[in-house]
Amino acid sequence: MTSRPAVVHPTAVIPGGVPGLGHLPALVADPLKFLRHVRGYGDLVVIRVGPLPVYVLNAPELVHRVLVTDGTDFDKGRLFERAGPVLGDGLLASDGDHHLRQRRLLQPAFHRRHIPSWAKATEAESVAMCAQWRPGDAVDVVTWTRTLATRIVLRTLFRAEPSDRVVARVDRALPVLLRGFIPRLLRPDGFVGRVPTPGSVRFDRAARDLRGTLGEIIASHRTAAPGTEPPGSSRAGETETGGTGILPLMCGLGPGTHHELPDKQIQDEAVTMLLAGVETTAASLAWLLHDISQHPDVRSRLRQETDAAGNTAAATRQQAPYFHNVLKENLRLHTPTWILTRRARHPFHYGHVHVPAGAEILFSPLAMHTDPRLYPDPQRFDPDRWTRTAAPPPGAFTPFGAGVHKCIGEHLAWTETAVACSVIVSSWDLTTVSRSPRASKYLGTHQPRRLLMTAVPRCR
Ligand code: HEM
Repeated sequence: MTSRPAVVHPTAVIPGGVPGLGHLPALVADPLKFLRHVRGYGDLVVIRVGPLPVYVLNAPELVHRVLVTDGTDFDKGRLFERAGPVLGDGLLASDGDHHLRQRRLLQPAFHRRHIPSWAKATEAESVAMCAQWRPGDAVDVVTWTRTLATRIVLRTLFRAEPSDRVVARVDRALPVLLRGFIPRLLRPDGFVGRVPTPGSVRFDRAARDLRGTLGEIIASHRTAAPGTEPPGSSRAGETETGGTGILPLMCGLGPGTHHELPDKQIQDEAVTMLLAGVETTAASLAWLLHDISQHPDVRSRLRQETDAAGNTAAATRQQAPYFHNVLKENLRLHTPTWILTRRARHPFHYGHVHVPAGAEILFSPLAMHTDPRLYPDPQRFDPDRWTRTAAPPPGAFTPFGAGVHKCIGEHLAWTETAVACSVIVSSWDLTTVSRSPRASKYLGTHQPRRLLMTAVPRCR
């Protein structure tokens, strides 16, 4: 990878703002295109969202500083305040001591020792869902991967049976909520911003429905006796096909777990896991299946690796180096979390740019992952780049974020994506029916707007 000189544009505020609206029209027209465009103006630039100045980070070293080195000097900012009615005090939206306490409580459920049991659960769910395909079926991949990811989170983290009714209710709510996040960020402050719109009404209704569904699942855990092992447990509340589970942990179930949280906090964490963990993993798998269908050479090498291992659950990181590179390349080129935000708690300087306390900050991992100065020929799907070239500098590859808020579900996401992909490629050929899918512009997650693929059994 090539290194970049630190460059700061003399004026910091980028040109092209419209009086009163600033860069809002360009941002609304195509947010990702705009963020790629501002990359050219310097390492730290200012855009105006209406009257609000927003500081955009375009340099890996700045990203690393804000997320990691000085990570505790920043909180999550306006986006997460506005998502408060949905995410509450869940991990994703919280900061400081509360965040640290919750993170410590939940961390054991995400430890990498659960990878084998997550792999088993993913294999079982993927095999069952693929068994419904008939040769020549057109599969709606965005919906299919979302359902799979919902089923896996319910089974592994919530230790709940993924009934069709519950899965359907979750899958109905999630896209509405994700569609609502960016408009919430862009809404003006004060009375005008609080006037209900059809979108905000749908958003609030979806949030209520999701919380209602989760309330039922939590109630069923509450009725289990404290300190007991949930059914199917092996050690410390772990199941053969699911790991520890966050709901049992938070309800104080299972040997060694003594924390019992109020229902509201448990709901906040459960909603957070669904919102942070389902669409991201589903989008990643959907892009991956599309890219593999466009690169038959990649598909054959993945098959060789799976066939040699003798089972699809072996597609986890350590055991399958080519899978690892393919997944990494997919996360680079189609980073689901295309935008991350922070707010400065203290003033700081970078070059001649002064960033005041309270300043809103954002950066796009996706724009950085496709910066030609960091990744030559950035739009090419090229898994071998990860072994051919040196590792990117700190801050240049952050699909799971970094620092105190780094994705807690990273190992689960890798396992799910690798094993589901391995199950599919070992038995099916998926081919994209329409043109290359376009990404949804306004979702909180970067995902294909629509992706239809034909499923044909693999010829051996
Ligand atoms: C490919 C899939 C995934 C991607 C790309 C992804 C990406 C991210 C990123 C970038 C962050 C950091 C956000 C920030 O710094 O503002 C994050 C945080 C988080 N993710 Fe993931 N994620 C994925 C899967 C999952 C899964 C499967 C779960 C759990 C079911 C999950 C749960 C969380 C939670 C709870 C946080 C907040 C962590 C904290 O603030 O301490 N994610 N994720």
